[in-house]
Amino acid sequence: MEVSVLVGSQWGDEGKGKVVDILSSRFNIVVRYQGGANAGHTIEIEDKKFVLHLIPSGILRDDVICVIGNGVVIDPKALLDEIELLESYNIKVKGRLLISRNAHLIMPYHKTLDSINESGNSKIGTTGRGIGPCYIDKYARKGIKISDLENKPLLEEKIRTNLEEKNQLFTRIYNQDAIDVEAILKEYLEYDKLIGQYIADVPSYLYNAIEEGKSILLEGAQGALLDVDHGTYPYVTSSNPTSGGACTGSGIPPTKITSVIGIVKAYTTRVGLGPFPTELDGDEGEMLRKTGAEYGATTGRPRRCGWYDAFLMNYSRMINGIQRVAITKLDVLSYMDEIKICVGYEIDGQRLSYFPTDVELLSKAKPVYEVMPGWKTDISKVKYFSDLPVNAQNYLGFIAEKSGFEISIVSVGPKREQTIEL
Ligand code: GDP
Ligand code: IMO
Ligand code: MG
Repeated sequence: MEVSVLVGSQWGDEGKGKVVDILSSRFNIVVRYQGGANAGHTIEIEDKKFVLHLIPSGILRDDVICVIGNGVVIDPKALLDEIELLESYNIKVKGRLLISRNAHLIMPYHKTLDSINESGNSKIGTTGRGIGPCYIDKYARKGIKISDLENKPLLEEKIRTNLEEKNQLFTRIYNQDAIDVEAILKEYLEYDKLIGQYIADVPSYLYNAIEEGKSILLEGAQGALLDVDHGTYPYVTSSNPTSGGACTGSGIPPTKITSVIGIVKAYTTRVGLGPFPTELDGDEGEMLRKTGAEYGATTGRPRRCGWYDAFLMNYSRMINGIQRVAITKLDVLSYMDEIKICVGYEIDGQRLSYFPTDVELLSKAKPVYEVMPGWKTDISKVKYFSDLPVNAQNYLGFIAEKSGFEISIVSVGPKREQTIEL
């Protein structure tokens, strides 16, 4: 019986979708535990490319059951669009998708508030999907849950109460038009017909599955450094992508987790604002972005690109309890003559002994690099570790040693078959 948590180890977009798709051939159930449609998890199979935002990346394996846990915030329209898209490819969703009654719903006013927040001075560079405002309402105990869809009088009352307050904000503070309550009611009072069939008591379903010896993969969204508690706050998302979030966001207790797998990009990227010590600017950054096709899967924004950061990765390994990792996008580095690896930070000439999540400090941190020779060979068709060029093997060995992890998968391209299992 395996219950594994898969976490993004950096700032998101590490290739979680691809690796979940690979691993889910060995799991019965895949569970998303946090975030929402801010995520964009890409899976490429033959000539088809799927970008999943809410539905777990196990959905492309016919015999896998997919679960959306209580920790996820669900935009019902985005969910239904995703179901429709999958079904248009003859991928069966009905009977294979369960949604926790306790997951919260993203409402149209959450997206409006997200965009208002982003227009001011405290911009984060969010995805605009209403994530932060929805989690605010959840923790303020004003949120609307998936289970409310099944109780129309209560749903109507909650929407009216919320909108009374939000409309005061929109009209009096933000000088905007009020939101039309009736239009939202009309839309949301219909969702039970379309979503009701997926609603389930997820903790007891997962408990029974574990009792029956089924294996479960918990799919994190975003990445450890975007974690609201452990990331580069305030330039973070509003949930806990780190492995601890897998328990609170699904209802699986910590005693049942058997392993934590980190997904690690062979270099570093970040979308949105916030410090990024190993960032490459100018032509070097542009070349890496172009070669790695580093454009957001959800928003299409260009991703900021930089060198692999082993110092950051050590922190990520520590807070997540990562035991083994999948390294992705190694093929992207094949054009480089030399590759830099950050092995530590200095501030004012002093070497740091810990990773500073405080943005003031992190902005001042100067990376300390070691340099390795590149391999300058196309590796995108390599199937075995021993067939990788020696310099590529050495690069992997070096980052594993400096980051303190063991590598179990190396990905050398976006497709399923471009995967080396160690
Ligand atoms: P996620 O959010 O962690 O699932 O990652 P994204 O899907 O946002 O971004 C990863 C991108 O890299 C996607 O376009 C993937 O198809 C692609 N990708 C994944 N693994 C590899 C790889 O090993 N090599 C290359 N070249 N692309 C990859
Ligand atoms: P996946 O799961 C990369 C970033 C946004 C922004 C910050 C807050 O595909 O790896 P939010 O909309 O969550 O309030 O934005 O978090 N962000 C991501 N960056 N990958 C993601 O998801 C992200 N989801 C959010 O760019 O900086
Ligand atoms: Mg992504």
